[in-house]
Amino acid sequence: MINVIGLGYIGLPTALMFAAHGVEVVGTDYDKNLVTTLNKGKTTFKEEGLDDLFSNAMKAGVSFTTEYQTCDTYIVSVPTPYDKCSKKIDPAYVVAAVESALDVCRQGSIIVVESTVSPGTIDKYVRPAIVGKGFAIGKDVHLAHAPERIIPGNMIHELTSNNRTIGADDPQIGERVKELYSSFCVGEIAITDIRTAEMTKVVENTFRDINIAFANELAKICHSDGMDVHEIIRIANKHPRVNILSPGPGVGGHCISVDPWFLVGDYPELARLIRNARETNDSMPEFVLARASEIMKENDIEPSEVGVYGLTYKEDVNDVRESPTLQMVDSMKRHLSSEPCKVYDPWVENDIVPNQVHSMDVFLENLRMVIVMVGHSQLKRDLSVFDGLIVLDTRNVCGDGENVHKL
Ligand SMILES: NC(=O)c1ccc[n+]([C@@H]2O[C@H](COP(=O)([O-])OP(=O)(O)OC[C@H]3O[C@@H](n4cnc5c(N)ncnc54)[C@H](O)[C@@H]3O)[C@@H](O)[C@H]2O)c1
Repeated sequence: MINVIGLGYIGLPTALMFAAHGVEVVGTDYDKNLVTTLNKGKTTFKEEGLDDLFSNAMKAGVSFTTEYQTCDTYIVSVPTPYDKCSKKIDPAYVVAAVESALDVCRQGSIIVVESTVSPGTIDKYVRPAIVGKGFAIGKDVHLAHAPERIIPGNMIHELTSNNRTIGADDPQIGERVKELYSSFCVGEIAITDIRTAEMTKVVENTFRDINIAFANELAKICHSDGMDVHEIIRIANKHPRVNILSPGPGVGGHCISVDPWFLVGDYPELARLIRNARETNDSMPEFVLARASEIMKENDIEPSEVGVYGLTYKEDVNDVRESPTLQMVDSMKRHLSSEPCKVYDPWVENDIVPNQVHSMDVFLENLRMVIVMVGHSQLKRDLSVFDGLIVLDTRNVCGDGENVHKL
């Protein structure tokens, strides 16, 4: 049996996937409400295919509890935030979860850290915690790191098809963990040491962040001198060795906007490009706001006539963590108006920001301008909802109409 600890965006689908593929699984989370919801047969977030997977896993006997289980394999999938001042990882959740597993584990158990951690975190924080509790690593318990790479919006497919990395002290333990993930993963599974696995995952997200930052910096340069960044990128990408990403309103979520900071925090003198990229991406909500102000001035639009479409950090998910819209709404309050703009996101049912509305009709009332922050499929399917409005389209999804402004 395996015990998946942490049943959030990563732990829940992972637990379900194991269960649906014949592995005996108990999921543990210390959030009682979350466990109660799952035990009532309801999923806790929206994701394509999650409800079907949940129902298959329930039929296969998956269960959820707040208790840590006595078993021989633990998968730790808890948050790994960074400290906003030092930029270093906050390993407290991972360490606490591993300690809880140690309280109940069998002799010879394998503890697999799935959470994304900065290189050296397991050496610096997890090993001392294990040794501190009197366990011999490699004898009483074994350690492995299997960082997750899936993207919200396509998680179920990617869990099955993505290649994976497994870091382990002992290659035989790596093989056992590989065999476990092979119950559902058909991608290639590379086995390496723990530190390499830690670094590889962080590097992957950093690569993405830097490439996004390049596109965003181009958007700023082009705008400053009246050039069309989208046309330039379109033509440049016809070069066989050029593949520039699209600029956007910033980077959010729990991965790309977080993990590069780990490298900045640990290698401040060396990670200069990485820091610059992070800062460039973090500056984009302000840039969007500056663009909005220009357009409002040109068209004599009042802040109360502007609405923001999209609150999540990407399309077709309900995850708002680190979302560019949250940052922008916050700045907007300071710069544009004491009355916050209306905000609408068809994927977000809870009230997250002031003046959030929950239907497109209410959103459109008295609106003259909309800032599109997320290109949800609902919008792409029917762009006519914004007919007659001035649109600031930060995702390049609203076509080329004369009222549509791009970054
Ligand atoms: N969300 C993503 O898209 C994504 C993608 C790849 C990797 N990751 C990484 O996966 C890890 C988990 O991220 P997430 O998005 O699933 O986080 P999350 O916040 O959605 O879920 C974490 C869960 O862990 C629970 N938890 C925390 N400490 C616990 C403990 N000691 N015992 C029991 N439960 C505990 C919390 O209650 C929460 O439900 C992070 O390291 C993240 O960087 C996330």
